Amino acid sequence: MFIVVGVTGGIAAYKSVHLVRLLVQQGHDVHVIPTPDSLRFIGLTTWEAISRNPVTTSVHDDVARVRHVALGQSADLVIVAPATANTIAGMTAGLASDLLGTTLLATTAPVVVAPAMHTEMWRHPATTANVATLRERGVVFVGPADGPLTGGDSGPGRMSEPEEIVTAALDLLSPASHDLAGLHVAVSTGGTREPLDPVRFLGNRSSGRQGAEIAAEAARRGATVTLVAASVDAGVLDAVSASAAVTTRHVETAAELGVAMTDAAASADVVVMVAAVADYRAADVSDSKLRKEDGPLTSIELVPNDDILAGLAAGRRDGQTVVGFAAETADGDLLERARRKRERKGVDLLVVNEVGWDSGFGSGENTVAVVGDDGAVVAEASGSKTAVAAVVWDAITAARAGR
Ligand code: CTP
Repeated sequence: MFIVVGVTGGIAAYKSVHLVRLLVQQGHDVHVIPTPDSLRFIGLTTWEAISRNPVTTSVHDDVARVRHVALGQSADLVIVAPATANTIAGMTAGLASDLLGTTLLATTAPVVVAPAMHTEMWRHPATTANVATLRERGVVFVGPADGPLTGGDSGPGRMSEPEEIVTAALDLLSPASHDLAGLHVAVSTGGTREPLDPVRFLGNRSSGRQGAEIAAEAARRGATVTLVAASVDAGVLDAVSASAAVTTRHVETAAELGVAMTDAAASADVVVMVAAVADYRAADVSDSKLRKEDGPLTSIELVPNDDILAGLAAGRRDGQTVVGFAAETADGDLLERARRKRERKGVDLLVVNEVGWDSGFGSGENTVAVVGDDGAVVAEASGSKTAVAAVVWDAITAARAGR
């Protein structure tokens, strides 16, 4: 596919290097049009090397081939990332002051815009009105995401992650299959927190990103999704926040997660437990802060939590598919342990991934194997958590079709 990527003058331009790379890796013919201002952030050499195509910024380059309109006319898709407030205003007014402006006026291809700016600029009535006008004209906006910004401030304005922009953009051209249409899916994500007192808890390092991507992918494929979210990292729920098909319920403890998932599972066709659930909680939770002056605390008595997944699998409705996740350290035979865990929990599929001190948690990437009900590996995936989510859903739909 012939894809034009417009890059405008924001610090998020560095993220678009990865975006262009993802598109090239998927075999697309990518033509980058940086605005002159954006070259202060990322230079022409980088864009040419990454896109493997010549890159120019001026309407006066390559005039013989009428480049100022040729790129727009050839494009199957135009992505503007990052899009500054100035670029969005220019697009709304139809300004043709640089090569990106002329290209946007000359194209009839779908246009995807990933804004990046400070929260105040994003919320300014001028930007709001410009975005509304562009949406009316069919421009698709991805983001901005909520999170830390360059000035140390925080709020909506971060450019969405390249994987999310690529997925949304390519989806416009060949919409994801709607193989989950009409289904209700219950997904848990994040790490539970078991309180010790009003200020302390026992927790784990789960970011919640993979579960959010599983929920987002189910929604893209047409499912209605209940996402039960324990503690998650900032920005993780951006993957689902724009989807009307996803209802998010926030919980803290394993017990709360158990209640919410049991409730959701009552009407769910597929249950996917991605959450990292604490196996134990404190036997006594203090109503007031535990203080050293009240005596040293050298041990905590724990009591086991229910195994939510095993309970959901044991009580599954007719036709319901129950899927577990297992994050395992690399000691011993990972797959053998996954097979035993699948049987012990009584689930249809168990998705296993390797974790360690510096792998698995928090990153945007994952490597998984999916173990089926005869213990065989029915799917494997490695890449962005968005891509892994797609493979997991392919495995779930195949298992449902095959039973
Ligand atoms: N799980 C659950 N309830 C628990 C513990 C885990 O529902 N109390 C679910 C997780 O959501 C996940 C799967 O079980 O889908 C596997 O979690 P894991 O922590 O690997 O399983 P454990 O049974 O706790 O095994 P281990 O002893 O290896 O920690």
